[in-house]
Parts: sequence; structure tokens; C-alpha cells
Amino acid sequence: MKKWFAVIGDPIAQSKSPEMHNKWLEIEGIDATYIPILVKPEDLEKAIQSLSLLGVSGFNVTIPHKTAIIPYLDEVDETAREMGAVNTVVRLSNGKLKGYNTDGDGFVRSLEDKIGIQKRHLPVLIIGAGGAARGIAFSLKKHGYQNITVTNRTRSKAEELIADLGTGNAIEYDEASDTLAQYKILIQTTPAGMKYSDLHLPISIDRMSKETIAADIVYNPLMTPFLKHAHNIGATVVTGLGMFVHQGAIAFEHWLGQYPNTNLMIEKLTSQLESE
Ligand code: ATR
Repeated sequence: MKKWFAVIGDPIAQSKSPEMHNKWLEIEGIDATYIPILVKPEDLEKAIQSLSLLGVSGFNVTIPHKTAIIPYLDEVDETAREMGAVNTVVRLSNGKLKGYNTDGDGFVRSLEDKIGIQKRHLPVLIIGAGGAARGIAFSLKKHGYQNITVTNRTRSKAEELIADLGTGNAIEYDEASDTLAQYKILIQTTPAGMKYSDLHLPISIDRMSKETIAADIVYNPLMTPFLKHAHNIGATVVTGLGMFVHQGAIAFEHWLGQYPNTNLMIEKLTSQLESE
């Protein structure tokens, strides 16, 4: 039977995952297809049962289902369980569904594509403490980043993340703004700057220094106000597109055992996003 894959979320029409995975399937000569499926939160359990019944080989999970899906899976990878979020599901040969999280590792691959692996000792500040921030924090720790601070509007969530991580500090927005210069890697994980979002960056970035490496997880637009500011002062910029492409590539590898061409995809989506 022809293999098929999917992404479930709400909303889902804007997702670039189908285009990306279908292109990779075509390039790799794999006879399979990848489709977007709109799944409302109240239908999540039924949707998963249906996907399984209809023989899906694997699927991605996006907002707002990344945490809610966990109880409906047969198995969850240890790291994904720690992160509390799943974005990739594999249907194993025995029919069981196993969840993984590829967002955090996707972020670290994208970051290290740009800055290499020699900067893991530098102090990191993560802005935001939602699902994406959790994945990133756990993956940074796994890769040997030793100095992680989280700042979040809801302080308790930052504290909870740091407690789960077992290392690092949680600080208020004001403190983050005042001490910004001491953090050499800044990671923006809130929806600020995203197309159609009216959220402004929640901390002041006036004190950003030009030695900073500024990474955003938003990729549409490619250059958020946060990254534009970093670029203007001569800091290093890491757009969110690399994370998106690498999380997809790691998912693809879980399903099909091969790592697809990420550089080509980043180039293709960059020119597309720049012309939108
Ligand atoms: P995701 O799981 O995709 O990361 P999320 O859980 O909604 O999304 O988290 C988004 C992050 O953006 C959170 O850190 C959130 O802060 P809270 O934990 O205080 O909710 C932050 N965020 C969202 N809207 C915000 C706003 N208007 N001002 C400041 N921070 C905001």
C-alpha cells in the first residue's frame, strides 16, 4: 500500500509542512504523500484513532495539540515526555503509535548550522516558557549548553521549566531587559513578530550587544523586529526557518530512515517567504 503521512492542527491551512514533505518525498523518490488535516481540539482522540485505522505511516502534530495528544499515544519517547510535548508520531510495525519531539533538536541543529558547536558554554536567555521554549531548553541542555536562563510573562511557568530542567534560572522581564548584555545567545520563542500577531516583543532589547547571537522561532516573516534590530547593530541572526526545516527533517528520518536535504529546502522556502 502507498504510504501516507499527515499533519494535524487547528488552524492548518497556513502550514508549510505538506509542501516541504511532499517535495522531499519526490526528491527521494519515495511513493508516498503528506496531507494537512484540520482537527478541532474536541475531535483529537477520534482523529488519532481514525488516522491509525486508515493506516497512516506517521504524522506531525501542531498547535494546539502538542501536549493534549500525549494520553492518546501508546508510547512516548523519554525526551518528549520530559518536554511535555509531541510534534511527531510514528506508527510502528506492530501498529502502535509512538510520539517524539523534534522541535528542540531542530532548533539546536539550525543554531549550530550557523554558529558551530564551540559556543555551548555561552550564557543563553530564552524569552518565553511555552511548549516551544520547553523543547528548546531540554535540547540545549542535552547538547551541553550549561548556562540557561528563562524569562516569561508568567513567572511560575519559567520557574517550572527551570525546575523540570534541573538547571538554570528564571527571571522577570524587567531583569532580563536590564541585564540583556550579559546573555550571548538570545532565543525568542513568543509569537511576537509573527505575521498577523500584534504582540510586541515583551522585553526591551536596547541593551543587546553586537556580540549577541539572536535566534527567533518565528519564520514568517523571516526577519522579525527582534532579528531586524539584531541585524542593524551587527549581531548574528538565526531565523526560525532553519528550526522549522530541521524539525521536519528529523521527523522524516523517524518515518523513513533517511535525512532529507535541508539546505535545498531552506533556500526554496527563503525565496518563497521573501516574495510573500
Ligand atoms: P507554544 O507552545 O507554541 O510555545 P504557548 O504555550 O502559547 O505557545 O507559549 C507562548 C509563549 O509566549 C509563552 O511564553 C507566553 O507567555 P505566558 O506563559 O505568560 O502565557 C508568551 N506570550 C504569549 N502571548 C504573550 C503576551 N501577550 N505577552 C507576553 N508573552 C506572551
